[in-house]
Amino acid sequence: MISGTTAKTRLGTYVMNGPCSERALDTYHLILAPSFACNLACRHCYLPDHAARSLAAERVFGLVDEWSEIVVGERGPFGGIFHLKGGEPLLLPYFGDVLDRLAQLGTLQFMTTTNGTLGDWDVVERLNRLNDALDGHATIIVSIDGSNEAVNAQLRPPGGFEKAVAFVRRLTEAGINVFLNNVVHRDNLDDIEPFVALALELDVTQVNFLSFVPKGFGASMALQRPDSVEVFERIQAIWDRGDDRIHSLLAGSLSDVRHAESCGTRTSRECVSGYRGLLYVVPDGTACSCPNLNHPGLEAGNILTSPLAQVHDALSTKVYERIRTPEGETHDRYLCKGETSVPLLRRCDYQDPHGVQRHLVPSELSQGTSYCFSRNF
Ligand SMILES: C[S@@+](CC[C@H](N)C(=O)[O-])C[C@H]1O[C@@H](n2cnc3c(N)ncnc32)[C@H](O)[C@@H]1O
Ligand code: SF4
Repeated sequence: MISGTTAKTRLGTYVMNGPCSERALDTYHLILAPSFACNLACRHCYLPDHAARSLAAERVFGLVDEWSEIVVGERGPFGGIFHLKGGEPLLLPYFGDVLDRLAQLGTLQFMTTTNGTLGDWDVVERLNRLNDALDGHATIIVSIDGSNEAVNAQLRPPGGFEKAVAFVRRLTEAGINVFLNNVVHRDNLDDIEPFVALALELDVTQVNFLSFVPKGFGASMALQRPDSVEVFERIQAIWDRGDDRIHSLLAGSLSDVRHAESCGTRTSRECVSGYRGLLYVVPDGTACSCPNLNHPGLEAGNILTSPLAQVHDALSTKVYERIRTPEGETHDRYLCKGETSVPLLRRCDYQDPHGVQRHLVPSELSQGTSYCFSRNF
């Protein structure tokens, strides 16, 4: 049990977006994978390896301080997220020390994405302390790829479902903000609706349905890539029947983006890759803009040889200018630029990532907002 648990206000949903005119995220977001080491070996994993090499603890603590300075200077306190990813972040020997550093600073939001299989009460207690120190600005994303053990085990090793669900229950009991990540592929399409029901039952704040991208280990199951129109229509059907709670759970989905457009509040312009405030750093220090667009030639720099501020400043020239959507063009408004550049996807018509773009009739461009359509954060 968690000591001193009182009723808390949870942070709520998160949609990665920003105004096209500024080419910057509203809430800055540094995604750090200090190591690819993992206790699991999921079939679909987009990582190139699960090697044990890892960024040194001192460099990671330095990144926390440097990111805090950038965020506070450009967005104000809590105007940016420090996101620990991997590999499996709970395996990091300095995981607890990073939490302590963040708690001392009290300036950054915290996120972590975990497979949830190592989340005992001790971990929950540590996260709870951090959440309190950050006034509730902590969000834990737990990856579960099915509404039951059998569907989850299509991608993840057997036995993980109950462990991850138990971790989610401990976190929500402690009053911590929890999201679920769910990778959608051809064989779990029928599970989308039961998964939303599970999310409601677990009382999580948001579900991110991630489209399976055939990269890394996952390249070997390229044929499992689902039809993008079918995924959109299934989630849209749930949205159409859903109430406010369901709409909130699906925050940031394409249905949510389209709903905002139909209300006239904002229109989608392009994906946010290359925008100021969005960085993805991997174990050898390479910094790209996002996990889906980490191809050679699109690096913003390396944090082992340059200060973080210098790498961050290089985003616009070294990344955005190379991938930008030309002015006036609207044909890629709902597409992840990273997904559309995966060679396997470009070669195969049946995995056409442009399908959903052609399927949707875009509304007039007015207040251009840019989103993350992969939602793989
Ligand atoms: C690479 S994992 C790292 C964090 C942690 N080990 C976990 O599984 O949550 C981050 C997220 O990417 C998702 N992911 C992995 N491979 C993917 C792929 N090929 N396509 C889409 N999402 C993928 C995972 O399911 C997870 O939600
Ligand atoms: S998806 Fe996460 S848990 Fe699965 S192998 Fe990759 S890093 Fe590990």
